[in-house]
Order: sequence, then C-alpha cells, then structure tokens
Amino acid sequence: MNHAHTPTPHHGASHGHHHEQAQAHEQAHEQAMDGQAEILDLDAEVVAEHTASVTAWLPLPTAPHHIVDLGCGTGAGTFALLDRFPGAHITAVDASAEHLQRLRTKACTRGTQERVHTVQADLDEATWPDLGSPDLVWASASMHHMAHPERALRNVHDALVPGGLFAVVELAGHPRFLPADAPEERPGLEERIHAAADRRQAGHMPHRGADWGPMLTAAGFTVEGERAITVNLDGSRSEAIGRYATGILRRIRGIVADRLTPEDLTALDQLLDTGGPHSILRRDDLTVRTERTVWAARRT
Ligand SMILES: C[S@@+](CC[C@H](N)C(=O)[O-])C[C@H]1O[C@@H](n2cnc3c(N)ncnc32)[C@H](O)[C@@H]1O
Repeated sequence: MNHAHTPTPHHGASHGHHHEQAQAHEQAHEQAMDGQAEILDLDAEVVAEHTASVTAWLPLPTAPHHIVDLGCGTGAGTFALLDRFPGAHITAVDASAEHLQRLRTKACTRGTQERVHTVQADLDEATWPDLGSPDLVWASASMHHMAHPERALRNVHDALVPGGLFAVVELAGHPRFLPADAPEERPGLEERIHAAADRRQAGHMPHRGADWGPMLTAAGFTVEGERAITVNLDGSRSEAIGRYATGILRRIRGIVADRLTPEDLTALDQLLDTGGPHSILRRDDLTVRTERTVWAARRT
C-alpha cells in the first residue's frame, strides 16, 4: 500500500488520542480509496469492449508513440491503449499514489512495466510536471474533476506535439443497474438515490455531464469527432456486474444516506447486504446502463 499518507508516528502519552484519530482517519481514507480502486477495476472489466471500440475509433493517421493518460486511476485507459498501440509507451498521471501503485503492480503482472511510467501530480496546480511531448493525451472520467478545466485544457494543448490528439471521455452520471420497479417494496429506489446524489454533487463537480466541445475549441483545439457510447449490458454476462453494482451503490450510499427516507435507506441496505436474501448479488434482473461521450480534439 502507499506510504505517502502514513501519519507521522507520535511520541508520548499526551499524543495518544491524536494518534488514534490520525490512524482512524488514515484507515477511513484507505478504505475509501480501496473502494474507489475496486470500482475502477470493475468498471474497466465491465466496459472493456466499449473502451476498445473508443480506442479503435480515434482519428489517428499514424499510431502514437507517446501517450499521456491524465487522471489514469488504476489504469482502465492505460492498459486499453497499451493493447491497442503495441509500439507506444504511456505516462500515467494521477493525484492518488494508491491508484498509481495499483497500476504499476498490474503493469508488472502483464509484463508491460517497461512501457509505463507513472507520475503523481495534482492537475489542479497551475503548472504541471513535464509530461514529455505526447502525440496522444487521453482523459477518461477525469476532466470533470478539475477545479479549473479551462486551464487544464490549455495545459494539455501546450503539452501535445502539433498535430497531436486529445481524447476526452466523459460520463453524465453513475450507471444504473436495477429495473424501474425494483426493489419490490420501494420501486424506483435507484433513481431517487441518484437524484439525491446529483443534487449533492452538482455544487463541487459542476462540469460533470458538460459539453466539452466548446471548451476544447476555446482552448485552441479543433474538435474532429464526437461520439456517444451507449452501454447496455445484461447482468448475466459477467459475475463482475453484481459486484460493480454493489460497489457503486455502496459509494453513493455514503453520499446520500442522510437525504433518504428511512424506508429507502433500509431497502438500500438490504440490497447492499451481500449475505442477505435481498442482496444485489442474488438478483437475476441486473443490467448495466450508462452513456459516455468521447471528443477527439486536434492540436493544429
Ligand atoms: C473517475 S476516476 C477515472 C479513472 C480512469 N481514468 C478510468 O477511466 O477508470 C478519476 C480519476 O481522476 C483522478 N483525479 C481527480 N482529480 C485529480 C487531480 N486534481 N489531479 C490528478 N488526478 C486527479 C482521481 O484520483 C481518479 O483516479
């Protein structure tokens, strides 16, 4: 696990309480990050075919040599791009040391560690570390996290070689898994949960679901393509789908628990109780439904 966030050991009894607090904070942080890492890995697995179709669609006259994956997470895009472009090497950038560590471990398992270089950086900073001269920059589900997207887009523009391509993949919201009439006692529960989460998150992620085309143009890019990807998968395709649904809904529970009615919260907890009779894992009517949009923007 990452050591960057390990709290400095405290000495002396008077610091015991703070030390426990710091440890509890650290554990909560690591659990949250593990939760996110697990979801990112499951997402990569579940939508792998769609991601492959996006990398195949990119308007690239020649195969890229140097790719930057911005906000790479645990490597969903990195590994799809390594597969698609066997001659390329990738600089994978993220703020999370844990995600980068996980990505490096996967690269070793796959024998691609020589082709991946990780950089830990906060892309909200005005000045970015030197990312080399990429001919393709990929940012999937990361641009909407940026506090200053216009500045980030200009940084990407300046980093790319002339003629290089920026691929932005974004999603309007979290995927849906349940039928509208589920669960039996609280039909429509999933939509109510998402509505509550959207209201809470709109304030600090105003660019989620935005139209990136005009912003890319304003940053100096020529938008050469835009494509909407509809994911609609039957839950029976893979056992990962049940775990993916559980992971996503558990995370959303953390955001909205205090905004749900007691009846909805109980029904949600029953879905999330993986050992219980109402567990999502026991359902045979799950689907994965989500929309993604890709913009291909050229630095001319
Ligand atoms: C939803 S995840 C997407 C990960 C990956 N691109 C994928 O498609 O699975 C968003 C990622 O952006 C990273 N991120 C968010 N804000 C960031 C920032 N200011 N600087 C660097 N990375 C950031 C997060 O750590 C996280 O890994």
